[in-house]
Amino acid sequence: MKNTTFMLLTLVFVATGSLVAQNKIVVNADLGKTTINKHIYGHFAEHLGRCIYDGFYVGDNNSKIPNTDGVRKDIIDALIQLKVPNLRWPGGCFADTYHWKDGIGPKDKRPTIVNTWWGGVTENNSFGTHDFLNLCEAIGAAPYLSGNVGSGTVQELADWIQYVNFEGESPMSKLRKENGRSQPWKVQYWGVGNEAWGCGGNMKAEYYANIYRQYATFMNASWGDNERIFRIASGASSNDYNWTEVLMREIPHNMLEGIALHHYSVIDWNAKGSATDFSEDQYFTTMQRAYQMEELITRHVNIMDKYDPRKRVSLVVDEWGGWYDVEQGTNPGFLYQQNTMRDAMIAGMTLNIFNNHSERVMMANLAQTVNVLQAVILTNEEKMILTPTYHVMEMYNVHQDATLLPIDITTKNYTLQERSLPAVSCSASRNKEGVTHISLVNIHAKEAQQITLDLRGAKYATVNGKILTAAKLQDCNTFDAPTKIQPKPFNGAALNNNQLTVSVPPFSVIVLALK
Ligand code: AHR
Repeated sequence: MKNTTFMLLTLVFVATGSLVAQNKIVVNADLGKTTINKHIYGHFAEHLGRCIYDGFYVGDNNSKIPNTDGVRKDIIDALIQLKVPNLRWPGGCFADTYHWKDGIGPKDKRPTIVNTWWGGVTENNSFGTHDFLNLCEAIGAAPYLSGNVGSGTVQELADWIQYVNFEGESPMSKLRKENGRSQPWKVQYWGVGNEAWGCGGNMKAEYYANIYRQYATFMNASWGDNERIFRIASGASSNDYNWTEVLMREIPHNMLEGIALHHYSVIDWNAKGSATDFSEDQYFTTMQRAYQMEELITRHVNIMDKYDPRKRVSLVVDEWGGWYDVEQGTNPGFLYQQNTMRDAMIAGMTLNIFNNHSERVMMANLAQTVNVLQAVILTNEEKMILTPTYHVMEMYNVHQDATLLPIDITTKNYTLQERSLPAVSCSASRNKEGVTHISLVNIHAKEAQQITLDLRGAKYATVNGKILTAAKLQDCNTFDAPTKIQPKPFNGAALNNNQLTVSVPPFSVIVLALK
């Protein structure tokens, strides 16, 4: 072809938009083989600020807020509706200062401690093991207990397991029965310390690997043939790949069921910025941090694959979410922040990443459930609000335990100054009833995305959906306007001969159901 003809053709292509990137997604409905573990949708409740006290727990006596054994009924109902699969407790950094025996027996006899990590407040231990495990039963969630390695003992953790899990006669099961609970709770998920590289003891990876082996040896109690204890090693902070490498190399894999990873979407640890009053530039940086999860999982998994190609050991992202400055006038140690559409974008995009990596990512825990960091619930005395993050997690719960459908995605970029991110993220699954769900997120702050989905490998006749969006990225639900942001029915998807076309407004999350 002559140069002039080529240039002419190029001009025509560009003029008609043919060379401009399009949003195109192929959903491979016949290639699903991995289950999206429901535990990816887990939550985290620490003795931190107003998460437990003045959050979940309003005390057994005299509260005018309706409660069951001190736990707010409105929170219980909201978490049942959310389908919380597991709840991690009591920390966080608090876990490595927590001595569980302080939190059992008559409440007026329990010792107090100082919560040194979070505000230096007095912890009266009135919310303890029974309260937490009964709460998990009430909301239908599997408990995930974080053991104290930093300042505890092997014996203390082994006793805790025996106390909550042992059916027969033993000193700990006797104590449990004396405290009013005859049947064990059968707790499967156990963390062996938290952030051992930091607040959990400032350990080096090699040292922690040895300590882990010691603890794990005595965490071998089982209560049935198939339901063994699931031990989760304290994992890396964000891109500390050496931590994962050392743990995978030094810990025998028959002593290790899961290895953790913590990653927060924080603009700058010294200048986090307001949760509600932020610029597009700050929004973009937050989304860059959140999108880093894709690379972090890929690279930690590569290391795990090297030592464990059969994928026996799971990756457990047991702390994730946005982290901003605390709301004005609140205790800086309490980490109370509002929750806007920016948080909905973090949640939607991150959950898509987890779903698409569900071959290795088996569990994840959003930090934290009530009144702390990227909370799903905020409370103010008798008032309670559900945040945009709550709504995303609820819309996405259709993926729990469904079969992941692999996708191929081409997306336009969201570009700000010199920086670019994929504008669209997506994941798809088919549930036991044969319904396919597709979750789409457009993180672009200003532009809608036209998306074409090629649904191959199955025939679909109907589509409907829900959308979460708002007028402004900075919008949030408040105690005066609690339902400003809520999912709405979405009828904007057109299905034609197994091709789906959808227009996704800026900063919106859509979940579609196809039959
Ligand atoms: O979620 C708040 C804190 O963040 C946790 O206590 C700790 O594990 C992490 O550094």
